[in-house]
Amino acid sequence: MSDMSELFDRRIVLGVTGGIAAYKAAELVRLLLRGGAQVRVVMTESAQAFIAPLTFQALSGQPVHTHLLDPAAEAGMGHIELAKWAELVLIAPASANFLARLATGQADDLLTTVCLATSAPLMVAPAMNQAMWRNPATQHNCQILGQRGVVIVGPGEGEQACGDTGPGRMLEALEIAQVVAGYFRRGMLAGKVVVITAGPTREPLDPVRYISNHSSGKMGYALAAAARDEGARTILITGPTRLAAPPGIQVMQVETAKEMLAQALEHGAGADLFIAAAAVADYAPEKVATHKIKKEANGELHLHLVKNPDVVAEVARLERRPFVVGFAAETEKVLEHARAKLQRKNLDVIIANDVSDTTIGFNSDNNAVWLLSGEDAVEYPTQDKQQLARRLISDIAARLERHNNKAS
Ligand code: PMT
Repeated sequence: MSDMSELFDRRIVLGVTGGIAAYKAAELVRLLLRGGAQVRVVMTESAQAFIAPLTFQALSGQPVHTHLLDPAAEAGMGHIELAKWAELVLIAPASANFLARLATGQADDLLTTVCLATSAPLMVAPAMNQAMWRNPATQHNCQILGQRGVVIVGPGEGEQACGDTGPGRMLEALEIAQVVAGYFRRGMLAGKVVVITAGPTREPLDPVRYISNHSSGKMGYALAAAARDEGARTILITGPTRLAAPPGIQVMQVETAKEMLAQALEHGAGADLFIAAAAVADYAPEKVATHKIKKEANGELHLHLVKNPDVVAEVARLERRPFVVGFAAETEKVLEHARAKLQRKNLDVIIANDVSDTTIGFNSDNNAVWLLSGEDAVEYPTQDKQQLARRLISDIAARLERHNNKAS
């Protein structure tokens, strides 16, 4: 088991709602306790149809809370006391019904009431059938919760208890416990809000075609995971990729550069750090054809492209501007072109990679970069993107700290 010493003495209310994944919550209690956390379990009525309160009582060594209007329980640790006691309220599994009730601010049972009454951060690990997870109503509820700062952990993809395959499985207990430990870790970016763009954009030509590029999202996702591990509240704005959403990160899915810009301006204003690892299409078709474009008789097709907005440059222009880090994907005169972009886009730092080398950069597992600022240049030789991301995030976090100290 990886080190989870950050859990030591943390006070966690674990909410268990109705779903087959409720059995995984028993293992979660065990792992949280093993890390040294104090755990109080609150169960909804439907959770008790899947697993008995006695299981959690035996594991946690504490009474399990099940009813809002139980005089005996309220005489012990009542709902307000529980809400005040908690340093984190973690709901695992969180059913579709529970997410809907949380999103609408209901307080019709003990768990929803504790969630409303607490000032502790809320973390939810959704678990449901894939169609229920994909349903726009659930997605909308998660969006609302994400906007309120609720940390959404997972769900994972795979075979489901009902026989379906797809997204909606609750993450494994160990994965959730690791996210919780990371959340309590006082990392270099603790208390900071970090926004990262990743992946390609897609600029539609007609209903079936688009202009895009080979970005896989690996670099941006690795940076988001590294920022999360350093304790940041991390928001990942991503174009279409094949990668699973990293746990503990708020993910905003976009397709076009304009959609990415809208999300970047919304989340970038007031953020502490903005990192633009996305490969945003520089141009988009002026018009999107309503119907599939037919072959021309002369065998030629002329497209009229117009310039897309520059997402990172627009964020750097914001009044409440974060510390802004861009990337430069170059195929020649890498450092010279990157330095020009650093200045032109008014960035604090730029990370240059040579994308003419197919063993690094676009779509590969490795990368090699130069980190350039107005004052210095640091070389990071070829290594896997996860390791590189951790090193870049430490370097950038230290620069952010110095920048903030200078400004204050
Ligand atoms: O996703 P991977 O497969 O892991 O590949 C990683 C990567 C090669 C995509 C990544 O390391 C990288 O270099 N990302 C930036 C790609 C790019 O578009 O670079 P650029 O030099 O064209 O743009 C410079 C900067 O401006 C970038 O931060 C880019 O995100 C940003 N930009 C560019 C155009 C635009 N319209 N809006 C932008 O924000």
